[in-house]
This record gives sequence, structure tokens and C-alpha cells, in this order.
Amino acid sequence: MVLAIQKGKAVIDRDYIISRIDPRIYGGFIEHMGRCVYEGIYDPQHAEADEQGFRQDVLAMVQDLQVPIIRYPGGNFVSGFRWEDSVGPKEERPVRMDAAWKSIEPNEVGLGEFDGWAARAGSDVMMAVNLGTRGVEAAAQLLEYCNVGGGTAMSELRKRHGRQAPYGYKVWCLGNEMDGPWQICNKSAEDYGTLARETGKVMKRIDPSIELVACGSSGIHLPTFPQWDATVMDLCYEYADYLSVHMYLDNKEEDLDNYLLKAVNMDRYIDAITATCDYVKAKKRSDKVMYLSFDEWNVVPGTWKKNDVAPWIHAPALCEGNYSMADALVFGNMLISLLKHSDRVRIACLAQLVNVFGPIMTDRAGTAWKQCVYYPYLHASLYGRGIALNVMAEGPVTSTRDFSDVPLLDAVAVLDEASGDITVFAVNRSANDTLEIALELRGFGDYARCERIVMQHEDGGAFNSAAQPNVIVPQQLSTERVDGGRYTASFAPMSWNVLRLKQV
Ligand code: AHR
Repeated sequence: MVLAIQKGKAVIDRDYIISRIDPRIYGGFIEHMGRCVYEGIYDPQHAEADEQGFRQDVLAMVQDLQVPIIRYPGGNFVSGFRWEDSVGPKEERPVRMDAAWKSIEPNEVGLGEFDGWAARAGSDVMMAVNLGTRGVEAAAQLLEYCNVGGGTAMSELRKRHGRQAPYGYKVWCLGNEMDGPWQICNKSAEDYGTLARETGKVMKRIDPSIELVACGSSGIHLPTFPQWDATVMDLCYEYADYLSVHMYLDNKEEDLDNYLLKAVNMDRYIDAITATCDYVKAKKRSDKVMYLSFDEWNVVPGTWKKNDVAPWIHAPALCEGNYSMADALVFGNMLISLLKHSDRVRIACLAQLVNVFGPIMTDRAGTAWKQCVYYPYLHASLYGRGIALNVMAEGPVTSTRDFSDVPLLDAVAVLDEASGDITVFAVNRSANDTLEIALELRGFGDYARCERIVMQHEDGGAFNSAAQPNVIVPQQLSTERVDGGRYTASFAPMSWNVLRLKQV
């Protein structure tokens, strides 16, 4: 129910530059977990499967998203992963017990198969090494297998496996969530920081062109945050290029107004981790800027409760649920938060792409379909390339259980330098009220028209499903005139909005 129209104003100035956006901020994540790989991107029995067993309908949906980089193969999975199991002739690969997810891993999809799929998706691979059950030697050998041209044991092994040219992966994760008690071989910050340093040292000697991502805190809820990050950075600052951060937002309190503001936690998290990195930088009298890799982010669908799946089966349905419009709003707001911090966040990966908290879902025997969160991700990836600009807004604020005086509007703008067009991404975080915002565009010349894309739904609990995949989809509204750089935009309650301002 709409209660009121609240008014505000906002300025977008050509000079309010945040940063040039690194396209890898629109990265994704595919883990050997649940039905992400098996029954997700890969299902040789399915009518849509290509000759390698990958579903073409799923691939097409990933291609449309233009995902620049995909983190692989985990996640928690990587902390027990033996990379040697995933290469060479398929029929000789072992079936393993994956202790991270208590699942059966047949290794039918391995490194080479995934690389081929990612190339078809148009994505680079961001490879993770196992710093749980394994360490420096396995990481070094995997890097040698992937990135060395030839003439050494591992590079020649790759050639014998049918791949002549090196894969040449540029970005490597030094383990995953090593601070988490759930992680296989969870470590103290001192132990992990030392291992990350020594692994990084060897890896950069083998291939100095690579970039390394060290594990930061897995979340702000952990008692070791942010001391973990300070200690790890202190130990491996020299070899790391990025510190990894993860965040999954949910509405477990079942308090809608509070939930709609939760992306504020992402802003605070990024600010705190950035400050921690800069503290270590100052302590070391270093010139080097540590960037962030937000390589797992998402919202947990409101309909997802807990996994109740028998252990030790292949491809159990883990972390699957239906995203509501409320979830999509928080999801879009997380994208806005990443863009607002694009001066420090250079890589981000939506966790995950298919089935596991997925924007893309598959029915085993049926169709692939899109959750509503697919669309904000699509819009940001397609229209959010260029220069991120601050939107200086003044308007109504609200307070809830966890937050005080938070603006109802959150927005960021992106300038496409080639065309001069500006895209504004905005959320109205009020469940009930419409926001009317007087926009002033400074320093851009005249804008002739504004194309508006809006996604909203009156029922905050509605969702898409295989049977009804178009319950929540974006609407392209009629194009409006912009006179002399002034435009009044109306944002519906609990809506995701894209304003595409086009020059004459
Ligand atoms: O994305 C699902 C899991 O969440 C990942 O494996 C892990 O890194 C995180 O805890």
C-alpha cells in the first residue's frame, strides 16, 4: 500500500568521479557445490546438452550477462580439492567424497572442461588453490600446469592431456574463507597469513604476471573480524594484490523495513576493510594500494530455510530458493554499494551463478529460468561500464531496528565516456512510499531523453518459478524528455530503477 509521496533532490556532476570501474566487478562464481555444476551448467542427459554435456540454454543466459571473470572451483569445496583428480582422461578420474559439502564428486567436469565452458561464456577464469588440506607444493604445481608454456613436468602433463597452449590464468585465490570454523583445515590468522605469504612467494616466482587474492574475513559476523584482516595483511602484504571479502545478506529477523536497508552493512564492511588495509599500508610505510576482491556476495532468498538433504549424494539441491522483490531490491542495492566503492573494489563475484543462490535456475528435466535478481545483475553488467560518479542526494531518511537515519534513496551513476550517456542505478528502500527526486545534471551538456527501466512488485513476497518465470520482470517505461539537465524521477516503493540519460 502506497502511504505517501516523499520528495528529495540529487545532483550528478561530471566532476564527482569515484573511479573508472574495473569490469571484473561484474564477475561470477561457479563452485562444485550442490547443483551448480552438475545439473546446472552441465547435464549430459538433458535435451539442451551440447556434445560436451553442457546445457546450451544455461550457457546462453550466462553469455547474456557478459560476465568478465568467474571464480572456480570453490568456495569451501577448494579446501579439500585435489586438482590432479580433475585433469586427464575422464574415465580415469576418481570419484571422491567431498567433505566440504558431504557430496559425491565424480570429477566429470574438471579444469579443462570448465575452461572450455568459461571461454564459450566469454569469461576469464579466476582460479583458487587449496590452502586447506594442501599447500605450497600443490598450488605451485597447479600454476605450472596452467600457466607454463612447456618443458617442465606439469606443463608437459597438460600437453599430454591435449592442451598445448597454457591457460594463462591471471587471477588466483590463495584459499577460501580460512577464518571460518566450517572451513576444512580452518586456520588462525597467523598460520594462514604465513602460508599465504609463502605460497604467494613461490607462485609469483613461477609466474610474475599473476595477481593474488588473500583471504580476508568471511563476514562481519565473525569474532575475528577485522583483526584477522590486519594480521593476514601484515604477513602477506608484499605478495597479495587483493584482499578477499564475502557477504550474504538475509532477512532472518523477518523484518522487511530493516531488511531493505541491509546493504548499508556492505558499505560499512567495505569501509572497515579498506581502513584496515590502509592501516597496514601505513604501518609498513608502503606505497602499494591493496584492492578488494568481493569474491562472494549475494542475498539469501527469503524462501530458503535450511538444507535438509541426505549426505553423500551427487548434486544435492543445496541453497536453492526463490528470490522475492524484497530480495531483488537488496541485491540491486549491493550492486550499487560495489559501484560506490569501485575505487577500491576491483573484482566482485556473484555467488553463485546457477542454482546455488542462483540468478539462473534449472529444472532437471525441464527449462532453465531466471530469478528476479538476474535482472539487476544484467542491467549493471550491460550499462554499468565506464566511470562511476557519485549521486549527491538529499531526501527522506528512515530508522529501523539496526539502522538510524538511512536515506531511502540509494543511487550511483555511470558515465559511458564514448557516448556521453549516463546511467543511474537507484533503489527506493521504502516498502510503502514513492520517492520523487529532482535530478540536476551538471557539466554534461543537454540531455534529450531518459529511458527508464523499473522492476517492482506490489507483493514483496512474490517470486519467479519454473512454472511462472515472469512474475517479477523489468518494465521498460516510456521515454521522457530531459530539459536543460533537469529531470524529476519518480521511484516506486521497493523498486529497482535504471535511468538511461541519452544526449541529443
Ligand atoms: O557460496 C557458498 C559458500 O559460501 C562458499 O562455498 C563459501 O565460500 C561460502 O561460505
